Amino acid sequence: MPEFIPLISQQEIQDRIRWIGQEIAQDYKGLDLVVIGVLKGAFIFLADLVRQITIDHEIDLVGASSYQGTLSTGQIVFTKQPDLELKGRDVLLVEDVVDTGQTIAKIVEFMKRLNPRSIKICTLVDKSERREVQINVEYSCFCLDEGFIVGYGLDYNEKYRNLPAIFNLKL
Ligand code: IMP
Ligand code: MG
Repeated sequence: MPEFIPLISQQEIQDRIRWIGQEIAQDYKGLDLVVIGVLKGAFIFLADLVRQITIDHEIDLVGASSYQGTLSTGQIVFTKQPDLELKGRDVLLVEDVVDTGQTIAKIVEFMKRLNPRSIKICTLVDKSERREVQINVEYSCFCLDEGFIVGYGLDYNEKYRNLPAIFNLKL
């Protein structure tokens, strides 16, 4: 039986998102912000985050999938492209976890071809210890050194996204 060890509570998540949302709202004042969530893992984080960004902005989604089980396959597949026009606009990519950085680096590479004015990254969890590619993560809610986590949108083989808080999964 898998074991779920509580790591980050619902309250801690909401408190941190309120801060990050306010920071984003200040930084993007007067800019043309488009917040783009990376499916599927970021869907719950995105929903909570945008409600804390009090300036006008638009929301879109991009679908990218890279993981099978707990190991990166090194391949990323685009399952959904953004619908909004991004040319000349300020894109904030919202990701659930930045681990090796391979996934977000490829998404950024792809987004650049759509000629936005700027691209920044906001992640719920930054696992910087395992980073393989050099990328700047401008907004990060929580940092984690090791372990595989589930809940609050994050999955293990598509399960456990519905858990309301973040847990360390021991298989
Ligand atoms: P990267 O390409 O190694 O940076 O992997 C990032 C992607 O892997 C994220 O979008 C997550 O969906 C997934 N991922 C990485 N670590 C975890 C984890 O601990 N739990 C759930 N998903 C994870
Ligand atoms: Mg993901």
